[in-house]
Amino acid sequence: MTLKTAIVTGAARGIGLATTRLFLAQGWRVAMIDRDTSALKDAAKGLDGAHAVACDVSVPDQVDAMVQQVLDHFGRMDALVNNAGIADFRSLADTDFAIWRQVMAVNLDGVFLTSQAVIPHLKQRGGAIVNIASISGLRASTLRVAYGTSKAAVIQLTGQQAAELGEWGIRANCVAPGPVDTKLALAVHSPEIRAAYHDAIPLNRYGTEFEIAEVITFLCSDRASYVTGQTIAVDGGFDAVGVGLPALRAQSGGM
Ligand SMILES: NC(=O)c1ccc[n+]([C@@H]2O[C@H](COP(=O)([O-])OP(=O)(O)OC[C@H]3O[C@@H](n4cnc5c(N)ncnc54)[C@H](O)[C@@H]3O)[C@@H](O)[C@H]2O)c1
Repeated sequence: MTLKTAIVTGAARGIGLATTRLFLAQGWRVAMIDRDTSALKDAAKGLDGAHAVACDVSVPDQVDAMVQQVLDHFGRMDALVNNAGIADFRSLADTDFAIWRQVMAVNLDGVFLTSQAVIPHLKQRGGAIVNIASISGLRASTLRVAYGTSKAAVIQLTGQQAAELGEWGIRANCVAPGPVDTKLALAVHSPEIRAAYHDAIPLNRYGTEFEIAEVITFLCSDRASYVTGQTIAVDGGFDAVGVGLPALRAQSGGM
């Protein structure tokens, strides 16, 4: 039996590494992509069925070379997980054009470029794209002018991909994670932000990278064969609720 191959960007740590591990456990082969060469090398060590390729997803030439390397190594590609991303939390007033461009270059251009390079190969036998957005792309908040806008654009880009690629048997879906304790979140979530998240999340906790990976690998698998164009918030219920959660908890005494 020919094993399916997934490309996972931002695979050196966090959600990308958890997704890589879960794919491998489910019998897939994985091309692990990251721009942090030494972290990538360490992460890939001992992972049977994984192949690491250093690449910055915001640089077109590097993306093209990466896709060729993956093809040379595995000979096929069946799924693309556009997970590489950066977070920068600051106010509108403090967001200058250089920061705006940096966030857009990785979070939005990177998804566009990698998809464009992989799609011709997915067209050969059908496949799946899963783009990683964020709850910050579903609902506005403070400090996320660049990050939140880039993630909202990723959600729209996913719909565009689903609309055009269905006839080739390519499904495109989006996962919008809530807060997960990765290096990315640790860098931008102050104690105040952490407390606010706990208050706003019905499940009352941060998620784990493996809980996000479960949904990503499901959407890439044949078990999701009739699902396309969707954004699934994996967020402990954050996106489903409005005002009143802390007050309700206080009233019900935590019951
Ligand atoms: N952690 C959270 O709370 C959270 C919440 C919502 C969405 N997300 C999204 O999930 C994705 C993964 O986040 P994470 O928390 O695992 O982050 P992380 O910082 O732990 O890992 C991200 C990885 O992406 C790599 N990367 C960054 N820019 C890259 C580039 N230009 N080219 C190639 N690789 C690059 C980094 O080197 C790193 O290994 C991101 O898109 C992020 O926006 C995370």
